[in-house]
Amino acid sequence: MLGKVILDMDPGIDDALALLLALSSPELDILGVTAVAGNTTIDKTGVNARRVLEYVGKDGIPVFLGASAPLARPLSTAEHVHGSDGLGDAGIPMPVQPPRGGGIQFIAETIRKYPGEVIVIATGPLTNIALAYTLYPSTPRLVKQLIIMGGAYHLTPYGRGNVTPLSEFNIYTDPEAAKIVFESTAPLTCVGLDVTTNPSVKIDPQRYREISRLRGRKAELASKIMKYQIERFGEVEVHDALAVAAAMQPAMFQMVEMNVQVLTNNDVSRGATIPFKPKEGGRGRARICIDINSEEFMRLFLEKVSEA
Ligand code: BDR
Ligand code: CA
Repeated sequence: MLGKVILDMDPGIDDALALLLALSSPELDILGVTAVAGNTTIDKTGVNARRVLEYVGKDGIPVFLGASAPLARPLSTAEHVHGSDGLGDAGIPMPVQPPRGGGIQFIAETIRKYPGEVIVIATGPLTNIALAYTLYPSTPRLVKQLIIMGGAYHLTPYGRGNVTPLSEFNIYTDPEAAKIVFESTAPLTCVGLDVTTNPSVKIDPQRYREISRLRGRKAELASKIMKYQIERFGEVEVHDALAVAAAMQPAMFQMVEMNVQVLTNNDVSRGATIPFKPKEGGRGRARICIDINSEEFMRLFLEKVSEA
C-alpha cells in the first residue's frame, strides 16, 4: 500500500477520469473526496464526485463539500469545457447519497489523525487546501505530500497558459489560494500544463475508439463523459489523471526542484506561476514535472480504466 490519500477536486471530466484511475489503484487507500468550486459550482462538483463513485459501485467512499468560491474573487467556471453538468452532459445518473458538508475540516482532521501519512491530490482550484492550511496551521507540517494539477511553468514547449497566455485554469481561478500553498513548507509536487498538454498524453479519436470498445463500468463511464470533448475539441486532455499517476508512479515523471512565485495581480498576469531557481546550495520548495514517460502513462491509464 503506497498510502492514504485524499482527493480534492472539482469534477469536471478530467477530475472524474483521475478519480477512476485512483479507484483502480489498490496501492491508494482513498480516505475521502473533497469537492471545491471550479469547473462548475460546488453543488455540482460534489454531486459529480458521488455520481462517479456510485456509477462504479464505490458508494462507501465519502464526499465532503468544501469552498463554494475562491478566497478573494468571484467564481468563474468552465462549463464550456466540461458541459453544463460538469460531466459532459452524458446523462450519468444522479447519486442516491448526497455529499456531506465539512470538506475543509475533513482535510485538516484526517491529516492530523495520520501525521506524515496522508497524500493530498488536488486537481481543482486550491481554495480548500489554502483554507485547511490557514485555519488549521498544523496541516502543512503534518501532510505527507501535496500533489497538484496546476500551473503553467513555461519550462517545456507545452507549458503555456490555457486561460491567459500565462495562466492555467486552477491557479487563475484562485491565485490567492495558490500563493498560500506555494509559500507553505509542505512538500509539493506540481503537475502542470508543461506535461499535461504534451500531445502524447492526450486521448485522440483513435484512443477514444479503443476506450469505447472496452467493457466494464469504468470504461463505460470514461467513454460516456469524454464524448463531449471529443466531439467539440477532437481530443481529451486528461490533466488531472496525471496528478494521480504522479502519486502512483513518480518515477514516470522527470522533475526539477524550484521555487514558484504566484502572481495575484488583476491584469493579464493573474494566476501566472513563475518558477525560479533556489539560492546556491538551497533546495526549491516545489518539484515541478517537466517530462513524462507517455507510453507508460497511456499503458497505465488504459489498463486501469479497462478493469471491471
Ligand atoms: C485544469 O482545469 C480544469 O478545467 C481541469 O479539470 C484541470 O484540473 C486544467 O487546466
Ligand atoms: Ca480539475
